[in-house]
Amino acid sequence: MPTRKLKIVVTRKLPAAVELRMKELFDARLNEDDHPFTQEELAEAMQTADVLVPTVTDHIDGRLLARAGDQLRLIAQFGAGVDNIDVQSAVQRGITVTNTPGVLTDDTADVAMALILAVPRRLHEGAQIMDGGGFDGWTPTWMLGRRLAGKRLGIIGMGRIGQAVARRARSFGLQIHYHNRKPVGARIEEQLEATYWDSLDQMLARMDIVSINCPHTPATFHLMNARRLELMKPEAFIVNTARGEVIDEAALARAIKAGKLAGAGLDVFEREPAVNEELIGLPNVLLLPHMGSATIEGRTEMGEKVIINIKTFADGHRPPDRVIPAIL
Ligand code: 8YV
Repeated sequence: MPTRKLKIVVTRKLPAAVELRMKELFDARLNEDDHPFTQEELAEAMQTADVLVPTVTDHIDGRLLARAGDQLRLIAQFGAGVDNIDVQSAVQRGITVTNTPGVLTDDTADVAMALILAVPRRLHEGAQIMDGGGFDGWTPTWMLGRRLAGKRLGIIGMGRIGQAVARRARSFGLQIHYHNRKPVGARIEEQLEATYWDSLDQMLARMDIVSINCPHTPATFHLMNARRLELMKPEAFIVNTARGEVIDEAALARAIKAGKLAGAGLDVFEREPAVNEELIGLPNVLLLPHMGSATIEGRTEMGEKVIINIKTFADGHRPPDRVIPAIL
């Protein structure tokens, strides 16, 4: 007897190849017009689907999970970060949660590196001048930025993406420093010639550029608060390709406007898609619309990972990318 196909609800439009495969394998309800789901739509999906495939734009908290039907067994997040999901509550209700780590490492690290290059060298400012027809000719003292080679990069969060940023930054002559819950292995430290700082405060005071690469958890919410931003050197830059919530965005805007920081490159925001207005239009702040993993290859491989997680789970095995609440 043929077994019933798993019913999955996908909350956002995914690359065509991924959607096609999902339709072949599962009883898949897709989001043709790509509208963000309301909380009611999410609740309805969680009352009917065996598997929910959400993204960063779906806020799945304990209250919503309490409304889930018993048939919901798996939340297969399309994305590496799972801070939009109350994983603890899900697991307590017997719902497995998976994510898509690894396949977006290089793409996200590329964007972090692009910001590390662009902000100190004022690339977006230069591009805006060209767009506005404001290039009146070269002068020796115009558009001077800061050199990267020889400077210190402090990476907060030395997981996959942090390490990939470090590899890139080394080839630009940056010295690698990092803060993490614990040091990475000696072999990785040697390869990256990376210096571990147990004290984030002490590291911040000595860095020329700080890159945020840690997940957003209760422990990292506003890790970069007003006090810590104040510890940074006034000529230092900060880039964030992780989660907006790790930086107190209002405090960051204040620090930059007061000249206490030299600039920022931000791909993520505390209240996405809203951006603190104080950060908009500043010459030394480069803002991007959360596009760290936005490559055709990356988004396709993320979808493939989602499918593998669902298939493995459906076949009665432990999915490869199961999220364990204890490690969040
Ligand atoms: C994803 C991200 O595109 O995977 C992540 O954690 O931040 C993004 O690059 C997004 O989360 C999709 O859900």
